This record gives sequence, structure tokens and C-alpha cells, in this order.
Amino acid sequence: MLKRILGLGRAQARTVSIESTGLSFPVGPGETVLEAALRAGIAFPNKCRSGACGTCRCTLREGRVREKVDTSYVLGADDLQRGQILACQSLACTDLRLAVEGLQPQQRIPAPRATEGEIIAMRPLTADILEIRLRLQSPMPYLAGQYAELARKGIPGARQYSFARGSGDGHAVSEPCFFVRHVPGGRFTAWLHHQAVVGDCLSVQGPYGDFWLRDAMRPMLCVAGGSGMAPLRAMLEDAAERQVERDVLFCFGARTEADLYCLDDMKLLASRWRGRFRFLPVLSEEPAESDWQGRRGMVTAEMMSELKDPAGMDAYLCGPPPMVDDGIARLKAAGMAEARIRFDRFLDASHQPSAQAVP
Ligand code: FES
Repeated sequence: MLKRILGLGRAQARTVSIESTGLSFPVGPGETVLEAALRAGIAFPNKCRSGACGTCRCTLREGRVREKVDTSYVLGADDLQRGQILACQSLACTDLRLAVEGLQPQQRIPAPRATEGEIIAMRPLTADILEIRLRLQSPMPYLAGQYAELARKGIPGARQYSFARGSGDGHAVSEPCFFVRHVPGGRFTAWLHHQAVVGDCLSVQGPYGDFWLRDAMRPMLCVAGGSGMAPLRAMLEDAAERQVERDVLFCFGARTEADLYCLDDMKLLASRWRGRFRFLPVLSEEPAESDWQGRRGMVTAEMMSELKDPAGMDAYLCGPPPMVDDGIARLKAAGMAEARIRFDRFLDASHQPSAQAVP
């Protein structure tokens, strides 16, 4: 019988199996199903880990769970009727059998870990984006496209930032770097941009997220805005290292020419890339009288004018939610299958005051 219960589960380890995959893993008392899956190196779909995005939804076929929060604001009545749960909010009260859509059983991911990181370099990339490099006490493996949570003692909460450099396909990295956009009113980013100095320390936990490059031979569309450049640059760096041979169109949206960055990195990538590689910057607020000769307008509209066969491509979108959502809607309307569209919405205090925020 499928049953959700509110109340205390019995404090003992349980086993979770994922049907049709042959995967199973133990889940300890007080541990969520998602935490246990990631600890076991299973590529369970996840993004926010706070019950906000719905990415970790799965179907409970057998067993009982206790939910940490009311998930009905993410799961509709039909979802609940079908036995859907959020793995990031579910504690196992019994052994469980789950059905998880989109899980690749052969894909292994690095288990999350916690460490300390000392700031060893800071560099402004634009007026509001700062690159920081940390030296970790304990090197962290990750897949390019994933993120880590950074926290500073004395500032409540943790913020999520994508790794901005490749890891050599999951190797442990001792000096990761991140792009931090200054969010007006955000205490953490205000501290980093205006007070932090080389030598300051941060807590680092990760890796998390499922925004990594999937193996395929199809042409790729990459779309980023603002600090959404970070995971795509990391992903493309690792792919270039592996000598991946796929055509790439990388559309990057910025407000003005002064907001463009990583242009030399894009040139370097293009020179190393084995297929065709095209970087297309698009400016939305560049003054009409400027001498900018490139594209103007919304990056999502401009990308569509470049696509000959969207249904035959894979897409990776990363950046502010309105850009990502608009891009997804346009691609779906043009015939791209939902399963071919990967995305990472960068939420911050101006979009949603949740644990997924990056203020
Ligand atoms: Fe579970 Fe977002 S709701 S990862």
C-alpha cells in the first residue's frame, strides 16, 4: 500500500530500490532519499534540494515516507494521487521502491562532501560579476555543470554557485573558481564584492545538480545570460579536452558591451573545438548610437533565427529564470523534445526567497 505519513519514522536504516535500473542504496535515519542517493553516487535528478523546483519528483511504488514539508505546492492533486513524492523532502519509514524518470543508471556522479575554502584570487569580470578562486582543504570532484554551496560564517544561509572551470570529467579539483553576480540587497554577494579579501574563508559543500553534458552526437545549442556563462564554459572546456566532435552554437545574452566577458576563453575554445563552434553575443540594452556591430535584442529571440533544425539538436540553457523559461518555450514550440532540453535557472533574492537563492 502506498502511504504518506506525517510523524516520526522509525529510526533505522532502510533500503531504497529504483525499479528498472537494478539500483538500490541504503538511507539512514534523518537522511532524505535524495541525500542517500547522491551519497551512493547515483545520478538522481536534482536542482534546488529544498522542495521548490520539482526536479527530484519520483513515484513511490512501494513503502511509506515522511515528508519534511508540505509538498502540495509543487505536486498537484493528480501527482499526489499517482503516488509522486519529492525525493529531497522524503524520509523513508520503510524500505521503498521508486520509479524515477530520466535517471541514467550507468551515470555515476561524485558524492557530495563538505570542506573549507580559502579565497586565493578575486577578479572583476564585469561591473557586477566577480570571479573568485578558492583553495580547498579537501579537493572536490564534480562534473562540469554542477554547483557547490558556499557559506560565510556570520551570514545566514548558503548560496549556490556553478563551478566555472572544467574538472577533467569528475576529477577532484583543489582550486575551483566561481562567478558571483552582485545581487542588490544580497548580504553574501555584498560581502564578497565589497569586503572580502584574499585569505578569507568560506564553507564549501557539493557537488550538486544535474546540469552536465549528456553524451550524444547531435549539434548543441548553449544559451546563457549573466553569470550563467560559468557552467557552460566548464562543460565546454571538458568537452574540448575530451575532443568531443559536435557542432556548437553558444548564444550569450548581456545588457551592454561592457557586460560581455570570457571573450578570450570563447576564442580559445573555438580554436580547440573539433566541430564547428560559434559564439554569438546578443546585447539587449546597448545604446543605439554605439558602434556595436553585433546582434541586438533578446538572446532567446536571436537564437531562434539561427536554428535550422531545432528538433535535431540538444539544448543547454543557464541564467535568469525569465530567459531560461522563454528559451524553453520557444524551443518546444519549434519542435525540440523536452528530454533534449537541459537547463539551470539561476534564482536569486530578486526572483524567489528560497533556499535556492543566490543573494
Ligand atoms: Fe527536490 Fe528541487 S524539489 S531538488
